Amino acid sequence: MKSNIIDKKKSLLDFKNQPVIARAVELAKEFNIKIFLVGGPLRDIFLRKKVLDFDLAINGDVKKFGSLLAEKLKGKFIYHPQFLTGKIIYNSNYLDIARLRDEIYEEPGALPKVIPIDDITVDLKRRDFTINAFAYDLLEDRIIDPFSGVKDLKERKIRILHERSFIDDPTRIFRAIRFAKRFNFEIEKKTFTLLKRAIKESYLKTISYQRIFHELYLILKEKKFNEILFSLSQLRIFKKIFGKSLYRRNIKELERLKSLKTPLELIFIYLLYLLDFRELRILKKEEAKIIEELDYFRKIKRRLLRAKRYSKIYQLLSPLSLSTLKIIYALEISLRRKIKIYEKIKEKRTLINGRELRKLLQKGVIKNLKEKDFSKILLHLKLKKIDGELKSKEEEIKEIIKWTQER
Ligand code: CTP
Repeated sequence: MKSNIIDKKKSLLDFKNQPVIARAVELAKEFNIKIFLVGGPLRDIFLRKKVLDFDLAINGDVKKFGSLLAEKLKGKFIYHPQFLTGKIIYNSNYLDIARLRDEIYEEPGALPKVIPIDDITVDLKRRDFTINAFAYDLLEDRIIDPFSGVKDLKERKIRILHERSFIDDPTRIFRAIRFAKRFNFEIEKKTFTLLKRAIKESYLKTISYQRIFHELYLILKEKKFNEILFSLSQLRIFKKIFGKSLYRRNIKELERLKSLKTPLELIFIYLLYLLDFRELRILKKEEAKIIEELDYFRKIKRRLLRAKRYSKIYQLLSPLSLSTLKIIYALEISLRRKIKIYEKIKEKRTLINGRELRKLLQKGVIKNLKEKDFSKILLHLKLKKIDGELKSKEEEIKEIIKWTQER
């Protein structure tokens, strides 16, 4: 045990010697302010994980401090005045800086009101779980751990700090399950009781879809995203929010998408599709489109499975965007061959295009064709061409004449 603690002290000191932190500490001394290492990165040092991004808290002006430090690190600084926080991006790493603050939740689920303070203990008290609520004082080289977070880390426990924690901020319900699965920790008994009560009493309904989506994104990034989603579904969280549960077969599909390195944004949309989320106005245009296309695909799937003619495959798949096709390709093994065929045949071009059609009309080669019918006849030609029925320009012209006469 003892050697473990010495180890920790050593790794914290090693950490402090990193140029970025050394610079931040120097600057804090110049500003005559306190500076602490907090949150996830500190927790992760204790868990012996690799830490690349830092989380600092100061009792000074974040805007001034952050811009100066960013300058020294040759990085970029983004400041969020409403939260008194900022982010430095340097060498593709992040350094988060926050003002020591208290937070007041005026309504459950709403974003808190932020009040700057000087006392680190008060700042720690507003946080989610004990394992995220201790600090390392970088000036005095000591751990500040008023809620025994280090002990809970050792005992592998997720524990909230006060009874209203899940009510004030129901996103912590997602966070508790996410951390428990990520670290293979247990949710402490009373915490779990309060978590279940907050679900039952529908506090999840108090948070905006944007915040829920953010949590879903963070979950999908996790290695054990499947276990997290399954636990959340068993706790009936999705039923409460979306009116729909996620089943094992749904999660299997998400696993497949992830194992095939499908972009996270697409996996996220597929998750919303599985959850029957159809308030499409809330989504970005492209996202809403994918959900509509997936609905369409569900309707034509059987026809596509039966389709033999290439022109039929083309007709059924052409309303789908590349993103939706990617999802379907990953999930529907029995349709892969047809999707590959589609990718090839969609490139086929007829020899006659709109301009040519107009010329033929002017020359009187074809008659009885209105501009509004151009796209119809061109599609007709394309389908014939896809099926290999048109080989030359002459054959295409003949086909147009036949088409106009038959109408
Ligand atoms: N926090 C909180 N309540 C939340 C979100 C965050 O109390 N709903 C606090 C926690 O102390 C957390 C810190 O803010 O450690 C930083 O938040 P975030 O970056 O989301 O969490 P990390 O713990 O860094 O998690 P991760 O390892 O997933 O980045």
